[in-house]
Amino acid sequence: MRVLITGCNGFVAHYTIMQLLQNNFTVIATAKNAISLNIQHPNLLFVAMDFTNSQQVQKVVAQTQPTHIIHAGAISKPDDCEQNQALAYNINVQGTINVVNAAALYKIQLLFISTDFVFDGVTGNYTETSARSAVNYYGQTKIEAEDIVMAYPNPWCIVRIALVYGKPLSGRDNIITTVNNKLLAGQTYQVFTDQIRTPTYVLDVANVIVTILQLNAVGIYHISGTDIISPYQMAVATANHLGLNSQLIIPATKNTFTQPALRPLITNLNTTKAKNELHFVATSFAKGLAATLS
Ligand SMILES: NC(=O)c1ccc[n+]([C@@H]2O[C@H](COP(=O)([O-])OP(=O)(O)OC[C@H]3O[C@@H](n4cnc5c(N)ncnc54)[C@H](OP(=O)(O)O)[C@@H]3O)[C@@H](O)[C@H]2O)c1
Repeated sequence: MRVLITGCNGFVAHYTIMQLLQNNFTVIATAKNAISLNIQHPNLLFVAMDFTNSQQVQKVVAQTQPTHIIHAGAISKPDDCEQNQALAYNINVQGTINVVNAAALYKIQLLFISTDFVFDGVTGNYTETSARSAVNYYGQTKIEAEDIVMAYPNPWCIVRIALVYGKPLSGRDNIITTVNNKLLAGQTYQVFTDQIRTPTYVLDVANVIVTILQLNAVGIYHISGTDIISPYQMAVATANHLGLNSQLIIPATKNTFTQPALRPLITNLNTTKAKNELHFVATSFAKGLAATLS
């Protein structure tokens, strides 16, 4: 299989590429500008591709002839989307239209990465058939992108994931590295208690994507960890694991300070379908944290 992946410098894409290569896939890694991946492999090809440029997408797909496309690239920070809605639409919605249109020309199988933020966070325990209703613009763009993928007339798959964590490969911080840096510097860190998530270990996402391609699975799958916890609990667990002073982690709520984008309250994803159909086994947060900090 020849797999083209968009946004290859991203966190999830980077891990996915490594797992695909380990499983003998040929990977066409694409990014808007320079490729920052530090991977060398005979089955890995790098190509520049800005997926907001429809002509460029069609040209790259025609030249590289993938059998599958993983559309992982996005503007994924909710506050950035809220504050730059035209940009968010162009990247998350128009970009998906461009990828889908190019895939359709060659009947290429599509896998799109989506988010727990398509849900409003009122009930939690969301299944693949739960009604979507976003509370912020990021979630809204992902709903629109999902709709475009669901209308694709060839095989498609949507993988919804939630608050992904793991060892950063490109030096970009995440909650775990931020806790480490702040606490080591003796600084306090305000973290939300009123955002309840099922944090997802990044290698679980990458491995499930490999399984989906190997099994030719189609439809929607929810992939996340089993622990239903807040970023505050994640931060305290990180501090305790590192033997750092967890008193420096200050609980915050939406009333403590305002974020530009509203956040859904509780978005825990129900992963029963993936367990049954893909034999998905989620990594616990304790294990994922230990692996991240190893
Ligand atoms: N990380 C999470 O917690 C999480 C949770 C739920 C869902 N997701 C979804 O998972 C997917 C991957 O997320 P991630 O955390 O890996 O995001 P990420 O690290 O921000 O990576 C996204 C990548 O997309 C690239 N990109 C943006 N616009 C592009 C364009 N026009 N052409 C080519 N590349 C472009 C970005 O490149 P630049 O940096 O150069 O702009 C970036 O490398 C996204 O669809 C996201 O919505 C992530």
